[in-house]
Parts: sequence; structure tokens; C-alpha cells
Amino acid sequence: MPLVSPIEMLRAAREGRYAVGAFNAVDYMTIEAVVHEAQARRAPVIVQTSSGVIKRFGVRALAAMARDIAAETTVPVALHLDHGTDAAVIRQAIACGYPSVMIDASKHPFDENVRRTAEIVQAAHAAGVAVEGEVGVVAGVEDDIVIKADKAIYTTPEEAVEFQRRTGVDFLAAAIGTAHGFYKVAPRLDIDTLVALRENTDFPLVIHGGTGLPEDVVRRLVASGGSKFNLSTQIKQTYIDAMDEYIQAHRQEYDILKVLKHAYDRLREMIGGYMALLGSEGKA
Ligand code: 13P
Repeated sequence: MPLVSPIEMLRAAREGRYAVGAFNAVDYMTIEAVVHEAQARRAPVIVQTSSGVIKRFGVRALAAMARDIAAETTVPVALHLDHGTDAAVIRQAIACGYPSVMIDASKHPFDENVRRTAEIVQAAHAAGVAVEGEVGVVAGVEDDIVIKADKAIYTTPEEAVEFQRRTGVDFLAAAIGTAHGFYKVAPRLDIDTLVALRENTDFPLVIHGGTGLPEDVVRRLVASGGSKFNLSTQIKQTYIDAMDEYIQAHRQEYDILKVLKHAYDRLREMIGGYMALLGSEGKA
């Protein structure tokens, strides 16, 4: 089916206390792995693209790839721009058919974040496109966004409510101690704040920094109110490790399609595990 807006699937996830996986794709094959696994598990799913991948392929090509792959499925597939920091790129994604975008102006003071986010929301909503915003600061490395752990700022329920009221965002990244990239030390999670955020809001909350969180922690984050669960670094690790594994075992083969097929299979296994863990399996 055509690409869909993630709003409906995220509202259903919030209501049903499960989370939709939002997987960062890096090329055509990773989009295939995400979408094909979603189809096999009857899971609603979000494919998202980061600024680095957009610099490499451009939003027009990425939207075309996602549309092409989703067209063969019967489960809802949303395409989302992850961590948009450049208004021009966000507007281009909207024009090229992304049904959802994130504006990340979280490095700015609150009022400036509101101003920049509200401007994007206005343009996006006029085109029927959903918007994710961020208030508070998620630490770690996400392409060219680098935030040290001691610069993380946790989201407060008051800020979240005011931010949504003034901007009109459809869902919100909750900074509650998770971080992008690999964890060097165990994250200091504030589950109580996540629970308070959920209780004081009526819109879906997004958990960033999914890679490396133990399964019991993921379950707690979902049970406490995370409705969209972002996973990026794990995709890259699984992809690279799988190619390495295959090449090491078949050093003289030189059949690139076999290398890629091995990575595709490993990616699907990993992604499927997350769909089961997040509870989105069987929900489409
Ligand atoms: P990880 O790279 O830690 O999985 O984080 C993904 C993310 O939050 C993308 O926005």
C-alpha cells in the first residue's frame, strides 16, 4: 500500500501500550529488510532516514525507494525524516512525499525551539505531513549531531505540555536519559518522568537511543509510555558485522549478492526480534 502517516499507528500504540519500531535505513536493502519483516510479522512500522543518509542519496530517491518497497505490502509503512535540523531539507522531504518529519531544534533555548518547530509544523500540516519535535536534549552521536552525556537535558512534563500546545507537534521525543550510539556506561534513565510525561499528555512519546538497551529496560520504557522506539546504530552494526562474517568465511567467492543476502537475513532477524519485544508484532 502507499506510505502512510505514522499518527494513527502511534496513537494506537499509545492506547495499546506497545511501541512501533522506527528503524533508520541506510540504503534500499535496509528499507527492504525493515518492510519485509514488518509484513511477515504483521507489524506497523516506521522507516526513517537520518541527515547522513539524506546527504548521500537525497530525499527524492529515498522517498521513491520507500514508496516502491511499501507498495508491495499490506501492512502500514510510514516514512519519517529523523532529526531534521535544516529547514530547507525538511521542506524538501515534505515536497518529495515524506508523510512525517522531525524538526530537531532542541539545541536552541526553549522559545527559539518553539518558534522554529511551529514554523515547520505549519508548513507540514498544510501538506498533511506529521511532525515530531524534541524538547530537552538527547545525548550521544547521531550523524553530525554530537551531544556529550553531561550536556543531556531531561524533558519535564510541564515543558512537554507547553511545547506541544505552542507548536502543534504530533508526537514528541522525550529526553529521559537514553542516548544515541553505543552506551559506554549504563544510561541514567528517569522512568518516573516518562510515566509523568505520559500521564500529563495525550500525544505519543518517542524513545530515542534504542541501541544497546537491555530487553527488560526496553520493556519498561514501552510499558511506561514510549510509543515510538528509534533504532539506528544497531542496524549499522548488524549490517557491517554480517558482511564481515560472510566475507571472512568465503574469502575467495566474490559474489556480492550473496554477501548482501546474508546481511539482509541477519537484519531481518534482528529487526523481527525488536518487533516482538516492542509488542508491535501482530498489530497490523
Ligand atoms: P541509536 O543509534 O542509539 O539506536 O538511536 C537511534 C535514534 O534515536 C535515532 O533518532
